[in-house]
Amino acid sequence: MFLVFVGPPGAGKGTQSKRLLAHLKIPHLSTGEMLRKAQAEDSELGKLAAQYMDAGRLVPDDMVMTMVLKRLDQPEFARGCLFDGIPRTLEQARALDRALAARETPLDAVIALDADEKELIGRMLRRAAAEHRLDDNPQVIFERMEVYRCQTAPLLDYYRQAGTLRSVDALGTPEEVFERIKEALLLPTG
Ligand code: AP5
Ligand code: MG
Repeated sequence: MFLVFVGPPGAGKGTQSKRLLAHLKIPHLSTGEMLRKAQAEDSELGKLAAQYMDAGRLVPDDMVMTMVLKRLDQPEFARGCLFDGIPRTLEQARALDRALAARETPLDAVIALDADEKELIGRMLRRAAAEHRLDDNPQVIFERMEVYRCQTAPLLDYYRQAGTLRSVDALGTPEEVFERIKEALLLPTG
């Protein structure tokens, strides 16, 4: 199964991906985590990416797609993958579609996590105190939300037209949201 999690910052893409991949036994591909790891390793990619991430802006499409397509070539991704935080622009969505079509493994579903901004900002500010993510501060959170609205939200129509979009209410406990995701994917619930 090839699945995408799309949603604004703080919607629970990471949280719900971890639950779902334990259930489906497919690998996780989170571009945010890959880029944070590159930063922690102080690689060239990490240093370049930090300039965008610390400001809450998107890392350029070509940098992200090169990193993602290289990872997708690894054998564990042959039969499935849970994409978290990718794609984030129409250009990335089209590039991912082309790569998956070439492998004859098109996307099965796109889970769009919906929630109002006030709740999401609260979640990220609570995480800021616990995890010290550099982009979890009020100014950068505001920018990430704006970037989502302008650059990523258009993907919802793109996937609606493709017939793969499944919208899920991301408010409630992580357990409640996970049950809705399983329902949306027609997986056994409970
Ligand atoms: P990325 O790491 O993807 O960050 P993001 O989209 O801003 O989202 P978050 O990771 O903050 O939120 P999430 O939806 O995963 O929620 P989470 O489960 O953590 O990207 C970071 C940056 O990298 C980008 O700004 C960009 O610069 C760059 N980047 C990454 N991918 C890129 C791409 N494809 N192209 C270009 N640039 C890219 O939950 C948030 C918090 O809420 C957690 O503390 C969690 O415990 C809590 N929580 C989760 N669910 C619930 C719930 N139901 N109730 C209460 N609390 C909850
Ligand atoms: Mg995340």
